[in-house]
Amino acid sequence: MAANLPEPKPGILDIDIYVPGESHVPGGLKPVKLSSNETPLGPSPRAVEAYRAAAAELERYPDGPATTLRQAIARRYGLDAQRIVCGAGSDELLSLIAHAYLGPGDEAIYTTHGFLVYRIAILSNGATPVVAPERDLRTDVDAILANVTDRTRVVYLANPNNPTGTYIPVHEVRRLRAGLPSRVLLVLDAAYAEYVRRNDYEAGIELVATTPNTVMTRTFSKIHGLASLRIGWAYCPEAVAGVLNRLRGPFNVSSPAIAAGIAAIEDGAHEERAFEHNARWLPWLESEIARLGLAVTPSVANFLLIHFPRDKAKSAVACDEFLKSRAIILRRVAGYGLPDCLRLTVGSEAENRAVVAALAEFVGSSGGTGA
Ligand SMILES: Cc1ncc(COP(=O)(O)O)c(C=O)c1O
Repeated sequence: MAANLPEPKPGILDIDIYVPGESHVPGGLKPVKLSSNETPLGPSPRAVEAYRAAAAELERYPDGPATTLRQAIARRYGLDAQRIVCGAGSDELLSLIAHAYLGPGDEAIYTTHGFLVYRIAILSNGATPVVAPERDLRTDVDAILANVTDRTRVVYLANPNNPTGTYIPVHEVRRLRAGLPSRVLLVLDAAYAEYVRRNDYEAGIELVATTPNTVMTRTFSKIHGLASLRIGWAYCPEAVAGVLNRLRGPFNVSSPAIAAGIAAIEDGAHEERAFEHNARWLPWLESEIARLGLAVTPSVANFLLIHFPRDKAKSAVACDEFLKSRAIILRRVAGYGLPDCLRLTVGSEAENRAVVAALAEFVGSSGGTGA
């Protein structure tokens, strides 16, 4: 007879475990890792110094509400520190939002190639994921609105999106908010916002300031180069901040992370260097890869999506294997419904040149394989 064993709540076993970007290649060589949208510049040296200094007091619990970090973020962006909630990466905040606002019978919407953590967060809470189609690998506001039902409670929107690198302009985000019922929480995940300088882009601060049902999430993992420390923040309506503060772990951000985060956000010159580096190399990669005959989705972030032909010998999988044999790691994105693509993070100059040279070798140096 089958034993009566503990069972997880409904939905949890439907979750596919998140597979992070790979970081090792066979043979133990140090790889060129362009698989996780990390910055090639690393963190601000001041952040590293602050992190080291924090080692002097590891026996002490951190300040639970991460007050000094919230104040530093508030100063940087002119925000109300009371409405900022910090988390162990923005992943934690995306999950806490689902934990707070979703349960069995509820629906939450994200887009076809939306960040995979949304699905995990939704299913973890017994709610139903609803996938709104994109148009040309871009968020389609009308498709999201068409998928709203009486049960919709949350919409997750990455802007720019990972892994496509595309974004929608602020007037489209406003139109989305205006079209959603007021009971629906709109979550604007702006993990790559610091890389976008377009007149028609706004990360979400404006809508959080002007509506009671929009949250923006941000991260220190990307342009600030502190992915290993796990620091994210949410800017929220006061009521939502109150909810997230009730749910978060009492000490969810460590003291070294708080110290490094403050130093990072105060080092505007380092952030500018990281921005400039990306602004130089993203278009270079786009045009060099396009010259090889591979289609590239135009990106505003620090990564881009490369499209490969279906032909097995020239496919995304074949290319990934080839690059790995040269110790270069890109990100497979079949899990995002993009089996014919690889995602490439902008690396250092040497890394970018190495990946283009290896891609050229893969497609055959005369190019023109089509895509
Ligand atoms: C769109 C998007 N949102 C959120 C995150 C999570 O970032 P973190 O948990 O490191 O803050 C990522 C990381 O890849 C991302 O691509």
